Amino acid sequence: MINSSGRMGNRVGRAAESAGAYLATRKKLIQDHGFIEIAYSAIMGRLARFGFHLFLVELGDDSPGIAFPELDPGYTARAADLEELWPWVGKDYGLSEDFLRGAIARGDHCVANFFNGELVGYGFVTKVGAPVTDQLEVVIDDRLIYRYKGWTHPDHRRKHLSHARGRLNRQFFPLTDGRRTVDYVAVHNLASKLKHPDIHPVRLGYCGFVRLFGCEHPFTQRVPRRFGFRLARRHRGGDIP
Ligand SMILES: CC(C)(COP(=O)(O)OP(=O)(O)OC[C@H]1O[C@@H](n2cnc3c(N)ncnc32)[C@H](O)[C@@H]1OP(=O)(O)O)[C@@H](O)C(=O)NCCC(=O)NCCS
Repeated sequence: MINSSGRMGNRVGRAAESAGAYLATRKKLIQDHGFIEIAYSAIMGRLARFGFHLFLVELGDDSPGIAFPELDPGYTARAADLEELWPWVGKDYGLSEDFLRGAIARGDHCVANFFNGELVGYGFVTKVGAPVTDQLEVVIDDRLIYRYKGWTHPDHRRKHLSHARGRLNRQFFPLTDGRRTVDYVAVHNLASKLKHPDIHPVRLGYCGFVRLFGCEHPFTQRVPRRFGFRLARRHRGGDIP
C-alpha cells in the first residue's frame, strides 16, 4: 500500500521529470535557433492568447525543376481528390465537414501524404483565397496562388512531408500563368516558420489581427498588399477552418 507521502513523492518526481524534459527541449531549441528567436516566439505566443495575432507573409519559390525530398519507405506525397478526404473528417485530423465542403465549393486543391494508405498530412492551395477565422479571410488577386492549412500528423513530423507537399503545389496550375505561391505563418509557430526556407525564400512582410470585445480587426502591411495579398473581414458565408 502506498501512503500519502509516497504518493506525494511520486507526484513531485513526475513534476520534476516533466520540468526536466521541458527545460531540455527549450535548451535544444535555443542552441539550434538562438535565444532571441525563441524568446520572440514565446512572447508572440503569449500575445496571441490575449488577442494579438501576427503572421509573416511569404512568397514561394516556384522555379521548375527544384529538388523533391526523398521520403522514407511507405510514405507518399501526391495530389488528393478532396472527396478522398471524407473518411478522415472529424477524426482528430483537423478537418471539419464545413471546412471540406467550403474547399470543394471553392474548387481548391489538396496535396496529401499517406503512410501505408493512412492520411498523415495535407495542405491546400487555392486561386481565390480562403477563410482564416469565422470573421476573417485571406483575399488574393489573380497574380497569386494561396497555400494554406498545412498539417502533418504529430507521429509523422520531421520526415519532410510538408517539404514534399510544398514541391507539389504548382502541379495544379500552369507554370506559365505567372502566378506566385504565397502563404502566411504565425510568428510564434516555430515549426512552421523554420520549415524549408528554400520553399518560401521571400518574406514579404506582416499581416495579422487584433481581437477586441469579440470582434477581429485585420491589418496587412503595404508590401504584401502590393503583391496582391491581404487579410480582410469575411464577406462570404460558409465554412470555418
Ligand atoms: C509545421 C508542420 C506542417 C511541419 O510539418 P513537417 O512535415 O513535420 O515538416 P518537414 O518534415 O517537411 O520539415 C522540414 C524542415 O522544417 C524544419 N522544421 C520542421 N518542424 C520543425 C520543428 N518542430 N522545429 C524546428 N524545425 C522544424 C526543419 O528544418 C525540417 O528539416 P529537418 O527535419 O531536416 O531539420 C507541422 O509541424 C504541423 O503540422 N504543425 C501543426 C500545424 C501547423 O502549425 N501548420 C502550419 C500552418 S502555417
